[in-house]
Amino acid sequence: MVIWLESRAIIAVDPSPGTSLDRWVSITSSLCDLVSGFKVGIPFMFSYGVSGLRALRSSCDRLLIADFKLADIDYVMVSALSHVIDYVDGVIAHAFIGLKGGLEGLKSYLDSAGVKLILVISMSHAGSLDVIDVNVDRLLWVAGRLKPWGLVAPATRPHVISYARGRAPWAVILAPGVGVQGARPGDGIRAGADYEIVGRLVTEASNPVEVVKWINGEHVRALKERGG
Ligand code: XMP
Repeated sequence: MVIWLESRAIIAVDPSPGTSLDRWVSITSSLCDLVSGFKVGIPFMFSYGVSGLRALRSSCDRLLIADFKLADIDYVMVSALSHVIDYVDGVIAHAFIGLKGGLEGLKSYLDSAGVKLILVISMSHAGSLDVIDVNVDRLLWVAGRLKPWGLVAPATRPHVISYARGRAPWAVILAPGVGVQGARPGDGIRAGADYEIVGRLVTEASNPVEVVKWINGEHVRALKERGG
């Protein structure tokens, strides 16, 4: 049974040093029909480079997100992304860098390439409370001006997701923090997220396929509970 259309899971592909690219390609191939997409970050790029990204792309034709947590001037962000832009569907950047000279230029570049922009407005770790979360209204203001495709908000603090959902009804919300960081599968969806980003809970499991099937079941239950 193909159930990926129902899936709200995006799998974070974060290799620890020494793991082979073949292992990851095998994981993405085996999960391809069960998930909505995958997310790679700096660990993946430093481990396997652009050729590794190309191999991952070829292994599964689902949403592929580059999560480099971009936070620079537009020229530098665009220069960096030019190496990977042909292989990804979405890019994550920090909202706090602001519009002029930063996110506006990035958004124009991504729009012209047909790639989605996703902005971080809160993070899943506790340190997000120190600086980022006390400015969440301002970050949502930035998002409201720019209207990116998506926002990242933490499954570890569902009230932030609910708040962002209310303030940005147009946005696709992606919620990390499920599993090792403490949120349970479904916590983010129940609060109003569209997708949950899950990494080690799946990729370090002895049977990733079975774990993803369980997560998908929890997501279906969460969607029913929230009435969607
Ligand atoms: P684990 O293994 O903890 O991996 O499930 C989580 C993945 O999600 C990323 N992550 C975040 N990305 N905002 C983001 O944009 C966040 O608040 C956040 N918290 C975790 C992390 O890089 C890893 O890939």
